[in-house]
Amino acid sequence: MTEPIEELESSELGTKDYWEASYETEIRNYRDHGDVGEVWFDEDSQLRIIRWIERQEDRVQQDDSIIDLGCGNGMMLIELAREGYSNLTGVDYSPKAIELAQSIAKDQELDITYKVVDLLNESDVTALGRFKVVHDKGTYDAVSLHPDNFKQMREKYIESVVQLLQDDGLFILTSCNWTQMELVKSFGEVFDLHVVIPTPSFKFGGAVGNVVTSVVFVKKPVK
Ligand SMILES: C[S@@+](CC[C@H](N)C(=O)[O-])C[C@H]1O[C@@H](n2cnc3c(N)ncnc32)[C@H](O)[C@@H]1O
Repeated sequence: MTEPIEELESSELGTKDYWEASYETEIRNYRDHGDVGEVWFDEDSQLRIIRWIERQEDRVQQDDSIIDLGCGNGMMLIELAREGYSNLTGVDYSPKAIELAQSIAKDQELDITYKVVDLLNESDVTALGRFKVVHDKGTYDAVSLHPDNFKQMREKYIESVVQLLQDDGLFILTSCNWTQMELVKSFGEVFDLHVVIPTPSFKFGGAVGNVVTSVVFVKKPVK
């Protein structure tokens, strides 16, 4: 049997109250001076993923369905829409995040579907249907910090991704809390690692590490 991974310490970043309060402030900032708010792990990591998707012309067409899990202000989808992707959905359990994302998309006259969805709620997730590309930047990290039962929450989240992804789809995941090895261990029962999107690495005391990890998973073939 493989060693279980070491769970993270729970944190307020794992609570809905934290995100609601945070997006309430971001909505105010957006209304007052047009600041769209935080893009997690900076715009470079977002751009790296978009450039990678663009190179998958044989697998991902511009009208294929793409969902962003825990979309926050929706900036990933805004950038994808600007690049010509047209079948875009963003979900977040924070109604304030969805309000902010809808305002930004409306102001930029971009057609993106947004929905308030708790990714740990089975019926919410089933109602969404299936997608060619499922994208997550920072949301699995947040789920992993859930104040109670984080292991079960992580497992529930993984079940949701299985439910949402088409059999020939791609699941793109960017994390700052888990290493590539830990992600492969956690998702490995149901997903195969397809590719690692290179991210900048740093060297400290002879050891080389990455600040963020971006991996792409595909569903394991059904036996
Ligand atoms: C670190 S932020 C990342 C936001 C955005 N993806 C980005 O890259 O800028 C995590 C997001 O996950 C959302 N989230 C956390 N748990 C969730 C859940 N169970 N269902 C849906 N969204 C969730 C939070 O509201 C927050 O918007």
